[in-house]
Amino acid sequence: MVYHGLKGITCVETSISHIDGEKGHLIYRGHDAKEIALHASFEEAAYLILFGSLPQPAELLDFNEKLIAERPLPEHIQYLIQRLPENMDDMSVLRTVISALGEASYTYPPKTEEAIRLIAITPSIIAYRKRWVQGEKAIAPSSQSGHVENYYYMLTGERPAESQKKALEAYMILAMEHGMNASTFSARVTVSTESDLVSAVTSALGTMKGPLHGGAPSAVTKMLEDIAEKSQAEKYLAEKLEKGERLMGFGHRVYKTKDPRAEALRQKAEEVAGNDRDLDLALHVEAEAIRLLEIYKPGRKLYTNVEFYAAAVMKAIHFEDELFTPTFSASRMVGWCAHVLEQSENNMIFRPSAKYTGALTV
Ligand SMILES: CC(C)(COP(=O)(O)OP(=O)(O)OC[C@H]1O[C@@H](n2cnc3c(N)ncnc32)[C@H](O)[C@@H]1OP(=O)(O)O)[C@@H](O)C(=O)NCCC(=O)NCCS
Repeated sequence: MVYHGLKGITCVETSISHIDGEKGHLIYRGHDAKEIALHASFEEAAYLILFGSLPQPAELLDFNEKLIAERPLPEHIQYLIQRLPENMDDMSVLRTVISALGEASYTYPPKTEEAIRLIAITPSIIAYRKRWVQGEKAIAPSSQSGHVENYYYMLTGERPAESQKKALEAYMILAMEHGMNASTFSARVTVSTESDLVSAVTSALGTMKGPLHGGAPSAVTKMLEDIAEKSQAEKYLAEKLEKGERLMGFGHRVYKTKDPRAEALRQKAEEVAGNDRDLDLALHVEAEAIRLLEIYKPGRKLYTNVEFYAAAVMKAIHFEDELFTPTFSASRMVGWCAHVLEQSENNMIFRPSAKYTGALTV
């Protein structure tokens, strides 16, 4: 028997997260990820995923301080970012630069201090490179800002509006962890050889880069841009469905009920949309799309997927589409690190077998 793509095969035990596609549950360390995204900060959620429980105030303070201390880029990393070809895509840059952090001190077994450094420094790498390529002066990290606000600040030089920060933060929490996805598996395979944490997340970044995983919300962004005005939504969406086309950002292979990540982002968008035209438009388009899908595709269980709201958030904060997969990676760095630490605690090298289908001459 060959299990192509290892579909349906359980290969590890984990206490980090749990997905129930039928019930629409996503659990982070026993907590409803939706609630965490609605009520916690990026730092609290990252602490939960890394250490297994929500932080006490003193633990959070300590964690925040460590993250802030690790934000600045060492000189050799800045130099490397400047020297990489201008036409190198953002994910290849991130993968290359992260791998250059693998100094001699990173050894097996991986340590939580190393994980904190990787989580803290990833947004700095993305922002530094973006500004360098655009010919703009680099912005030093702000020790006054939380993780998400600092990322925005280092990219743009401005503080986000509260609504933008909250929407981005909710998205980055919901992108942190999602079970045994391809990049997480990749990270666990690498560390299972007793390789180091930097090597493991470098593998994960290479895996995340592929469009089947890292995705791109550009089709949704384009749809929202084409619609532009609330009054145009119904006509635009109905025309697509009349022609038999699919509405981008709706439907999911695993979630056959509401995707809890999309639900949480919708709720967050509802909270903050009053101040934000783009989120307001997205909420209206979603409601219209769900209504029309019921009419045109009854009984198909089509709900909003996370890609829809990921696109809406990226649009509301004016991040270009190219920043989507790097931002996703900056969030997922938390999940990768947690899985690498967990793998190393009870390690067995991954060594599946292959069915030989070539010639036999013996
Ligand atoms: C994500 C996706 C591939 C999942 O597909 P799936 O669960 O295998 O569902 P199927 O492709 O079997 O489609 C089942 C039915 O629902 C319809 N359908 C599925 N997604 C639809 C959508 N977004 N818009 C309109 N109709 C849709 C199909 O046309 C099909 O209808 P039919 O029974 O009349 O033939 C699919 O929903 C899709 O293409 N969505 C749009 C693209 C998108 O948002 N991608 C990002 C995913 S994170």
